[in-house]
Amino acid sequence: MHVLKLWHALSLLALTLPSTTLAAVLAIDYGADFIKASLMKPGVPFDVLLNKDSKRKIQSSVAWKNGDRIFGSDAFNMASRFPSDSFSSVKLLQAAPFDSEAVSYYKSISPAELVETPRKTVALKRSDGTEFSVEELIGMQFSYIKGLAETLAGEKVYDTIVTVPPYYSQFERDAVADAIEVAGLRTLALINDGTSVAVNYAMTRSFPTPEYHVLYDAGASSIRATVAQFSTDHKVSPPGTQITVTGVGYDRQVGGIELDRRLREILVDKFVAKHQKDVRKDKRGMAKLWKEAGRVKAILSANSDAVSTIESLAFDIDFKSKVTRAEFEEACGDLKGRYAQPILDAVKNAGLTMDNITSVIFTGGATRTPMIQTAVKAAVGDDKIALNVNADEAAVLGAALHGASLSRQFKTKDIKVTDISVHDIQSSYFASAPSTNGKPRTITTNLFPAGSKVGTKKTLTFKRTEDFDIAFDYKDEVAPGFPKRMLEVEISGVSEALGNLTERGATDPVVKATVSLSQSGFISVTEAIAHGEIKDESLTGKLKGLFGGGSSSSEEDTQTEENTPPRETESDTSSSSASASASSSSASPSASPETKKAAKELSTIHLNATVHFISSAPMSLEQKQASRSRLRALDAEEAAKYRKEEARNTLESYLYHLRDLLDEENKDTPFKQCSQPSERDALLVKMEDTFEWLHDRADYAETSQFLDKRNALEALERPIIHRYQEIEAFPQALNNSQMWNWSTRLFLQEARQNLTAEQEADLPSKWTKEELDALEKTLKEHETWLNIWVEKQKSVKSNEDPVIETTEMKARAKVLETQLQKLWKRKVPKVKKTSTATAATATSEASESAKADGAGSNESAPEKEGIPEAEIPQDQEPLQSPKPHDEL
Ligand SMILES: *[C@@H]1O[C@H](CO)[C@@H](O)[C@H](O)[C@H]1NC(C)=O
Ligand SMILES: *[C@@H]1O[C@H](CO)[C@@H](O)[C@H](O)[C@H]1NC(C)=O
Ligand SMILES: *[C@@H]1O[C@H](CO)[C@@H](O)[C@H](O)[C@H]1NC(C)=O
Ligand SMILES: *[C@@H]1O[C@H](CO)[C@@H](O)[C@H](O)[C@H]1NC(C)=O
Ligand SMILES: *[C@@H]1O[C@H](CO)[C@@H](O)[C@H](O)[C@H]1NC(C)=O
Ligand SMILES: *[C@@H]1O[C@H](CO)[C@@H](O)[C@H](O)[C@H]1NC(C)=O
Ligand SMILES: *[C@@H]1O[C@H](CO)[C@@H](O)[C@H](O)[C@H]1NC(C)=O
Repeated sequence: MHVLKLWHALSLLALTLPSTTLAAVLAIDYGADFIKASLMKPGVPFDVLLNKDSKRKIQSSVAWKNGDRIFGSDAFNMASRFPSDSFSSVKLLQAAPFDSEAVSYYKSISPAELVETPRKTVALKRSDGTEFSVEELIGMQFSYIKGLAETLAGEKVYDTIVTVPPYYSQFERDAVADAIEVAGLRTLALINDGTSVAVNYAMTRSFPTPEYHVLYDAGASSIRATVAQFSTDHKVSPPGTQITVTGVGYDRQVGGIELDRRLREILVDKFVAKHQKDVRKDKRGMAKLWKEAGRVKAILSANSDAVSTIESLAFDIDFKSKVTRAEFEEACGDLKGRYAQPILDAVKNAGLTMDNITSVIFTGGATRTPMIQTAVKAAVGDDKIALNVNADEAAVLGAALHGASLSRQFKTKDIKVTDISVHDIQSSYFASAPSTNGKPRTITTNLFPAGSKVGTKKTLTFKRTEDFDIAFDYKDEVAPGFPKRMLEVEISGVSEALGNLTERGATDPVVKATVSLSQSGFISVTEAIAHGEIKDESLTGKLKGLFGGGSSSSEEDTQTEENTPPRETESDTSSSSASASASSSSASPSASPETKKAAKELSTIHLNATVHFISSAPMSLEQKQASRSRLRALDAEEAAKYRKEEARNTLESYLYHLRDLLDEENKDTPFKQCSQPSERDALLVKMEDTFEWLHDRADYAETSQFLDKRNALEALERPIIHRYQEIEAFPQALNNSQMWNWSTRLFLQEARQNLTAEQEADLPSKWTKEELDALEKTLKEHETWLNIWVEKQKSVKSNEDPVIETTEMKARAKVLETQLQKLWKRKVPKVKKTSTATAATATSEASESAKADGAGSNESAPEKEGIPEAEIPQDQEPLQSPKPHDEL
């Protein structure tokens, strides 16, 4: 239990979002069928992230096998054996209310059992009864991707940008952001997938004259089209490209999954017709057919017919049937008009015609389906179709580039993006005065109409004296069964604040609320203030009123720099930032014209803005923490299991290795030569004990027991290995010692001669006699030690411990070497006049071990002349480090 507590504490930390920005940025294109991911990190090649099987796209699936989670295609394929423990395409359920159409649709494609969560959203139930919310299941997949990214990055990865369809509502965006946090990641931004393809497109191109392109994305769950204007400004250096999204069209019901579903219906009908048995009742059979439908669809993209063969599909019946493309297209006949419609809608929303469009860029897996290509070509003209981006990877690579530019730690091509929100967003509140019939009047404003730029703020002004609520709604249902109301914000502290202002002489105090539509598409109230003009009767006050401040009745929205979190994290109180940028919107009929800014500091009081979620609330902090802990617990459990298995396997293979070493048959092996019979007996006894223990107890044992058993065995083997290693290393060590002995001796001889000659010629010398004497003393000590101990070592048997260790030999040789190098490297002192600095510098610079370490730095360059090559006998070069000894 205490372990769980620890996890909880850790997850708290994770959710409090470290404020330091870390270098790596993870981009995830989370599709209903496939996940693509990419990591941006200095020093890591920019590419799509590969999974452990080197796949570039990873199936959006999670499943359980023997109690452990698996991901990707392994998880997807589990459905045909364990349909209740394999969950795919859960993206379709993001934020879906349990009674919405999305849920009944999901039931038509998946055998998974769905249950309702306390938040009225969806959870999926495993065969053992455990339930996981959609956010948790997606969080697991994000966490799996995080793991892959961290392996590649060699460090923790937090900052994440995830693509979402442009039509995603706040509910769905919240569900994505919640899953990101549940995975232990941090939301850097959400980006509309069409927009990220546009970024990818602009990366390698420039647009001297503005061009419009349609990014057409036929994905698994839906079809969407985004019109974007591209223009490059070459007047600035480096040239900057601006991408402006001007129109979006979409169809939430048509996509690759719907085509799969219809193709499966064909297969089901064929089975039923042939065998008179209802395969629909067989979950495994339906799961097999689901996989088969995907396969057949792919074949039909290139062929006019496909043969479907499934062994033991259901009721022990082997299924075999032929499907033609014509059959498939007929089954999808009613969808024909819908494939291209999003393009036409997007162009219309952008206020353009197809004539303005340079090309329609295809992305998404379903663009490979011939009938979709045909329909789009027919609608926009063959010549407009462009297949010049990677249909699978353009979105994730564009998202990564955008994420990198947001994090501002990378030098990327300067691409600015302006995106739009696609739903009408209204604000409403009760009017202060009831209508004439006494009923409260609701005042509704289309605050951010469809097509509004994201990353903007609007300020609402109210004449209120009491606390009140502002509600934010979608004008229309964003998807069947989804609520319209996003959130309600309670503005409190109004009467106190207004009382205060009035008491201080303010005239007409008002309440202002700043509403932000963030770059990632989240609505929030970022500030609420009470504000009134207080007449400053002093001279400075009057002057301020005359010259300063200036009235600001600027109409337009304030563009915000999105360095703030993409959504207000938790219970949102009014921010403390100065309200200098607040601009007026003519939203409220009670809106008063902006007053002079004079003495504004004195006349602004911050109010509390409390968020209430009426329906489809995002996860609360507590819920996210609980889910995070749950995932961590699963991770830890699986990791512990893995460690135990590994410990058991290593112990087992070690035992076999030992048995081999001890085998009577293997005579005269190094192991035998270096060990004594008593040691082998002890090892044999211990080995047999351990084998027995493994056989009887291993299934109930702890990881530590496996490790302990191995350690105990290794302790017995270690002295034997050591002997062997020493025998192996000894010749080299001796060679090394002798070499320094030899070199020093030669050096001394020559140095003494030179010294004498120099003294006679009255020339400066590099060394003093004392220094040479000291070196000789060290040499003699070394020689003596070596002579004595090498002699002793000669009589040591191979299965006895050595009397001198090679490490000691090396250490002693090093002492000699160091002292020799010191003198060796010395420069000839220049005869007076010439600056002594050179000599002094050179001496102090001399890095004592530079040469011996083989460091080829230029510091040691001057010493090259130090000792003539010839002085080291050719066969006395020091050897490289000993080779490893794993052949024991
Ligand atoms: C779109 O095309 C029409 C007709 O060719 C043209 O008049 C109009 O200026 C174009 N609009 C833009 C924004 O380029
Ligand atoms: C605002 O909220 C804080 C914390 O919730 C509370 O302490 C304070 O009294 C509130 N102020 C007003 C004016 O309601
Ligand atoms: C009004 O509020 C200010 C600070 O916001 C406070 O210093 C002052 O005492 C308040 N005055 C009254 C009359 O409440
Ligand atoms: C050290 O070198 C001297 C002279 O080169 C040689 O006579 C002596 O045997 C060497 N000693 C050892 C222990 O190698
Ligand atoms: C001794 O002097 C000669 C001639 O100047 C020189 O080449 C040699 O390097 C010197 N030897 C040492 C060990 O410094
Ligand atoms: C050579 O030495 C200079 C001065 O210490 C240093 O700046 C330079 O980096 C060195 N070059 C190499 C290759 O070590
Ligand atoms: C010492 O090292 C040299 C150079 O690697 C080698 O040729 C020679 O055989 C070695 N001598 C001994 C005794 O290992």
